[in-house]
Amino acid sequence: MNPTSVEPRPWSCTSWHDKPIAQRVTYPDCEALGRVLASLARLPPLVTSWEVENLKSQLADAARGERFLLQGGDCSECFEDCQSSAIANKLKILLKMGIVLVYGSRKRVIRVGRFAGQYAKPRSAETETRDGVSLPSYRGNLINRKGFTPEDRIPNPELLLRGYERAALTLNFIRGLVDGGFADVHHPELWDLDFVKYAALADEYRRITGAIVDAVGFMETLAGRTLGEFSRVDFFTSHEGLHLDYEQVQTRQVPRRLHWYNLSTHFPWIGERTRALDGAHVEYFRGIANPIGVKIGPSIAPAELLSLIEILNPADEPGRLTLIHRFGCKRIADCLPPLIDAVAKSGRTVLWCCDPMHGNTIRTNRGVKTRNFDDILAELEQAFDLHDRKGSILGGVHFEMTGENVTECVGGARGLTEADLDRAYLSDVDPRLNYEQALELALRIAGRMGQSASGTSRTRRKDAS
Ligand code: PEP
Ligand code: CO
Repeated sequence: MNPTSVEPRPWSCTSWHDKPIAQRVTYPDCEALGRVLASLARLPPLVTSWEVENLKSQLADAARGERFLLQGGDCSECFEDCQSSAIANKLKILLKMGIVLVYGSRKRVIRVGRFAGQYAKPRSAETETRDGVSLPSYRGNLINRKGFTPEDRIPNPELLLRGYERAALTLNFIRGLVDGGFADVHHPELWDLDFVKYAALADEYRRITGAIVDAVGFMETLAGRTLGEFSRVDFFTSHEGLHLDYEQVQTRQVPRRLHWYNLSTHFPWIGERTRALDGAHVEYFRGIANPIGVKIGPSIAPAELLSLIEILNPADEPGRLTLIHRFGCKRIADCLPPLIDAVAKSGRTVLWCCDPMHGNTIRTNRGVKTRNFDDILAELEQAFDLHDRKGSILGGVHFEMTGENVTECVGGARGLTEADLDRAYLSDVDPRLNYEQALELALRIAGRMGQSASGTSRTRRKDAS
């Protein structure tokens, strides 16, 4: 399709109903669904339009290379994990990674959790078969239950309400924690860094954490206050906007603002399986004013990407569109450069973000889904290099991770192997980096960005003299 041929069409919160709906959920009881959606439509929003606009302007900075986006959390949140320690640990690991990345990039970091609403999952297969019995696939806590019985797998509209409530509880607790300042999070000397001694790059990791300890100490002495007291962090939420009935009823028009906002989250994204140009998801997303993400994998062609950009961001609004590429470490070198070229040639503004998780999923011989730390790192390092070489900016990273000590991905400083996967594999869907693997990855990126940041400041100093 020629991007310039796309006509502006009228949009409404329901115009997506006339389009093909990928990953559609069919409820046996339509009246019950209607009642639930009506209740949801009356409930207050979870986020505000000014927070959403604030995030959009921060993402615009990231697209210009002035900030860096860190987005991460569970592949799929589950209702039972709506507990204080699980939420606090998720937040803490993201904040710690954020501090490491601030140090490495010398930029302000935008922290966006994949949580408080990440409850619906796209599935490649409609059904799951066990011992010759086939049932509808598990599609996330928002839609059905993971137990392998026919009752569990029937979509239940009450779960939409439970999801909204869990998202609200999670967000409420996160807001409280962020306001409390989290003193220990700012101090690497209080982090659990035992794994560092097992890492091949232990000295480099110690150098980085030591430098952060010194920098924080210096700033606190200078200010006469703790870092938590004088640098309140913004924190944002995101989830895949997959279940459009749920997204639609939380889409509101705000007094004195012209636009429609999805107020269930700050930053919804379109998944790789639902980004068809003429599909319902793209139709819904084109009309909301939130900053949005789109996952793009190996199957996207440059012309298709340009059409997506035209439909989703016709006014070329800065911060509006983040392209989250997820090719896998073996394919990124072929897939990414033509897309960077096409976007550069079009003159459009996007924020490029690398998801090094979803193209690197493998199954062990026993059929367990896992990812290798080295593949994740390899995709990330190539992403930085490929953008650098084209004069483009990799402005963010997107991880599936948790603050707990799970064993779902192999590798990392402790060298987790397939045998370790039996020990603490808790994810319902995709394997997540654990606390140590996530922090180690941040240290690796910081090391990588630190080299370019000091290179840039050296160049700047030279230019200035
Ligand atoms: C996800 O982010 O969990 C996911 C399903 O990703 P993708 O749409 O990139 O496959
Ligand atoms: Co996933």
